[in-house]
Amino acid sequence: METFTTKNALEAHLSAFRSAGKTIGFVPTMGALHEGHLALIERAKSTTSISVCSIFVNPTQFNDPADLEKYPRPIEKDIALLEAAGCDVLFLPTVGEMYPSDEEAWSFDLGQLDKIWEGAKRPGHYQGVTQIVNKLFHIVKPNIAFFGQKDFQQCMVIQLMVDKLALPVRLEIVDTIRDADGLAKSSRNVRLSPRARTQALALSKALFMVKQAVEQGESPQQAKEEALRFLQQAKGVELEYFAVCNPRDLTEIGPEQQNIRPLVVILAAWVGGVRLIDNILL
Ligand code: PAJ
Repeated sequence: METFTTKNALEAHLSAFRSAGKTIGFVPTMGALHEGHLALIERAKSTTSISVCSIFVNPTQFNDPADLEKYPRPIEKDIALLEAAGCDVLFLPTVGEMYPSDEEAWSFDLGQLDKIWEGAKRPGHYQGVTQIVNKLFHIVKPNIAFFGQKDFQQCMVIQLMVDKLALPVRLEIVDTIRDADGLAKSSRNVRLSPRARTQALALSKALFMVKQAVEQGESPQQAKEEALRFLQQAKGVELEYFAVCNPRDLTEIGPEQQNIRPLVVILAAWVGGVRLIDNILL
């Protein structure tokens, strides 16, 4: 694996590949890599000629300074995992490299997506995400970029940006990777105490409850209400939102829209001082 810390060196390296007709697959991350990230690298490797991963803890997408400070940064371990996964190129820039001091302010109209669910709970978060992903896309110029369904709303936000700016990149969404007991893999899971980790299982359990009940013929609304009661009683879980939505625009479905498929059930909750999100498609 070749590692680059500057935009210029990475661009020079990749333009040689591009001229040789090779396709570039890109996986942007913030590090603290786990099997979810590695599934994206694997998909990039099997889909495109070269795989590029970036690790950059992007300060502009953290609405909570404590969260930014506490974000895990096990860089040596990350490099070893990428090497073992057969990743071709790692981009590891500094904050100064990505945000020069003469930087222009960034403001991107994401419509409703910036105002609901994660957009509402984390003001400015998606502005930071689009700002950095747009920069990275311009440096890497990937043919395909890979994102995880785990961050469902983020996938929608990035697709909207790609469409609005007519960026020449295709997005591929990869299924959520979970631990054997159901917990969605997340870089933040390492901050869960053993007790909180057990309590956090209620989140995926609630999502699976909804899916199973709907498969057995219940309406999504009824299934959601049962799972909501379960979550409200779950010890150590402080729910922020739990909703059954139309995956096209993430609006919550009403009583007259129970037959729409697919649907997405989304949730966010605090468990043991850690904010977790998860979702499932129906
Ligand atoms: P990060 O949280 O590191 O996630 C990087 C990519 O891994 C995202 O596309 C995310 O959806 C995916 N991912 C995380 N957990 C996953 C899981 N359990 N299964 C499958 N994929 C998973 O998302 C970001 O970083 C940042 O916002 C970024 C896009 C890099 C911009 O800074």
